[in-house]
Amino acid sequence: MASRVSLKSKGKSSVGKGSKGMDDKSTTQCLKEWSNWALKKAKVITHYGFIPLVIIIGMNSEPKPQLYQLLSPYILETSVYPRESEPLKELRELTANHPWNVMTTSADEGQFLGMLLKLINARNTMEIGVYTGYSLLATALALPDDGKILAMDINRENYELGLPVIEKAGVAHKIDFREGPALPVLDQLIQDGKYHGTFDFIFVDADKDNYLNYHKRTIELVKVGGLIGYDNTLWNGSVAAPPDAPLKKYIRVYLDYVLEFNKAMAADPRVEICQLPVGDGITLCRRIS
Ligand SMILES: C[S@@+](CC[C@H](N)C(=O)[O-])C[C@H]1O[C@@H](n2cnc3c(N)ncnc32)[C@H](O)[C@@H]1O
Repeated sequence: MASRVSLKSKGKSSVGKGSKGMDDKSTTQCLKEWSNWALKKAKVITHYGFIPLVIIIGMNSEPKPQLYQLLSPYILETSVYPRESEPLKELRELTANHPWNVMTTSADEGQFLGMLLKLINARNTMEIGVYTGYSLLATALALPDDGKILAMDINRENYELGLPVIEKAGVAHKIDFREGPALPVLDQLIQDGKYHGTFDFIFVDADKDNYLNYHKRTIELVKVGGLIGYDNTLWNGSVAAPPDAPLKKYIRVYLDYVLEFNKAMAADPRVEICQLPVGDGITLCRRIS
């Protein structure tokens, strides 16, 4: 899931100028200065009526650092959208019109997943939480022709919205979609025995209150040396928010689950972890035992 923001190129060069003099200051100091700079800049731009940034400042009331608010659109405009394949672009645009579009995986994360899957030569993968299929399509496009994705979601209707795009891209044959809650499917796979340690990559992007339950199962199903990616582990920046910060209700409701999950991953000796601020935060867990 990712907050969707857009920003045209205005202000990009000024971001570069803001970095002057970073060498002789602490990183925290620089980040604070950048953040203040970004906030001021944002207000000025808002004042001049630059609509996309008004959306960022006005609608996104979560306490995400302002610097991040500017970097994310910069990355999208500079490095992601120009390289996004036609099917992914079509699916992103189609999803943008859907009332729950806030749930979609962001394009920078889709790009990241695509590269990651190629780097690890993934062939056999799983996805928990499909929605309209952006991360699913990014995965399907990155896998070899005989690659497989076991994809699960309680909602088939949303998957079927994106399915024509996936079919047109010629990668639908890689997908085995199962409608329904994921936990019983994982339990069945474990019970079968033959799926233990068989998945190269598992992407978890569903109900946050079940992440620890997913982990109990995915750790058995991913192969040693394979990866599990847990999405939204920065939970819209709220993981680092002060206790009295104003949070949207759905953010507040799941925050404790995300915090508990992050602590559990940091303490799990069966995996090496790396938490990346891509999209809404993705924690990569590499199974080591
Ligand atoms: C954040 S969205 C997934 C976004 C998707 N990865 C993408 O690229 O757009 C979360 C999805 O998880 C699904 N979901 C929620 N609870 C679930 C469960 N118990 N089992 C399977 N899917 C579930 C929801 O229906 C929703 O489509």
